[in-house]
Amino acid sequence: GTGQCPGCREGNTLVETSFARGPAGAAAGGSGRRRSATGKAPRPVPLREVDGEAGARHATGIAELDRVLGGGLVPGSVVLLGGPPGIGKSTLTAMALGNLAAQSNVLYVTGEESAAQVRLRAERLGEAALAVPVLAENALAPVLAAIESERPAVCVIDSIQTLTGTESTGAPGSVGQVRECTTALMELGKRLGTAIVLVGHVTKDGSVAGPRVLEHLVDCVLLFEGERERSYRTVRALKNRFGATNEVGVFEMRSGGLTEVEDPSARLVGESTVAPGSCVLCGMEGTRPLLVEVQALVSPTEVDPPRRVVSGVDRNRLAMIIAVLSRYGGLRLGAADVFVNVAGGVRLEEPGADLAIALALASASSGKALSAGGTRVGAFGELALSGELREVAHPDRRMAEASKFGLAPVIGPRGSEPVDGLTGETSLADALRISATASAPRSDEVSRAA
Ligand code: TYD
Ligand code: MG
Repeated sequence: GTGQCPGCREGNTLVETSFARGPAGAAAGGSGRRRSATGKAPRPVPLREVDGEAGARHATGIAELDRVLGGGLVPGSVVLLGGPPGIGKSTLTAMALGNLAAQSNVLYVTGEESAAQVRLRAERLGEAALAVPVLAENALAPVLAAIESERPAVCVIDSIQTLTGTESTGAPGSVGQVRECTTALMELGKRLGTAIVLVGHVTKDGSVAGPRVLEHLVDCVLLFEGERERSYRTVRALKNRFGATNEVGVFEMRSGGLTEVEDPSARLVGESTVAPGSCVLCGMEGTRPLLVEVQALVSPTEVDPPRRVVSGVDRNRLAMIIAVLSRYGGLRLGAADVFVNVAGGVRLEEPGADLAIALALASASSGKALSAGGTRVGAFGELALSGELREVAHPDRRMAEASKFGLAPVIGPRGSEPVDGLTGETSLADALRISATASAPRSDEVSRAA
């Protein structure tokens, strides 16, 4: 118990470090890069003379994962795969090792489950996963010894929080332990060219439990997210020294393990219905377009302040959109409860989602579905506090995806260049006007009228 860290405001994250030995187990290995004992100053080397990345990447054979990694695992690198319990971290790593085992030496270290439990999972995953050598071990030293003698190309540690070293006195999973184990594994991995995948738990707020320091140590941080009750899960890179951080892999948990969802738009929008309060966002996940249904419900409130319930949308962003709707769209929701949900458990993080949320709210409030002659309406664009509609990245890719799924019209910002099929609005007010002309009354009203 060392109280709260002034840096990250988390409890029990401070740890005593002995500087006589240097920080974080520097004594172990890795001396080749340090100053020689003779005290001669080291000579800096021009970058072109530096040896490039050693060897080719190890493709895991899971295309969605390889894409997020930037083309596979880099030899000697350390990847942290974080995620809440039950999301599928063990399943994903077991599948990846199963694929890799066909060409390379691999090792799966389990500290959380027994070897028998790991076998049970592998049985569900198929023949390839059963070929993976497993080591059930919680102590750091035997794990290091096994890596040293087996020399795997890829080694998974499931999980880093269950591994215990001898130098640190903390409990497994404490900052000291996690740092000691990670540092030792990292130095050994670099020396042998072994790519190390550390599985880690994350807390509710999305940071890797306790040791935020871990995120700085490793080369790549992947976050496995999604709601356990839903089948749709995503892997995204928070940090990647060897690739882009905006790529997202989409998976679905099935009975035979995780399957890649190659066309998430089809899944996410195929299930949506044309109803008041629903608007299809032409969004982006990294460099890939993704259509998602934004749902809103507006109802008279009985409490003060009224409810603002969100799922998949940032609360503050919603508050801003409601304020802009009120000031520039003539839509006052001050006396209404507002619920916003993103279908399929997707989390919207891009500002390009603003307009779709605003139009869903307007549609919910008017009770008219966003639909022009039976086709669904799409939307994207960022709202400025001035009520203007701002351009966002990749309008062409968003439009291409929208037309693939028959969305028409697509309401979006006027850009520097006209985009085929996009209405091209400059303000929220204009976008609301267009959406009103593309709106149908409730379907039950239509049938009553007929
Ligand atoms: P798991 O990989 O153990 O999650 P984590 O390591 O992140 O805690 O698996 C999570 C869930 O997935 C578990 O509740 C069982 C389920 N599951 C399937 O639905 N199908 C499968 O083929 C497998 C292996 C697991
Ligand atoms: Mg697990």
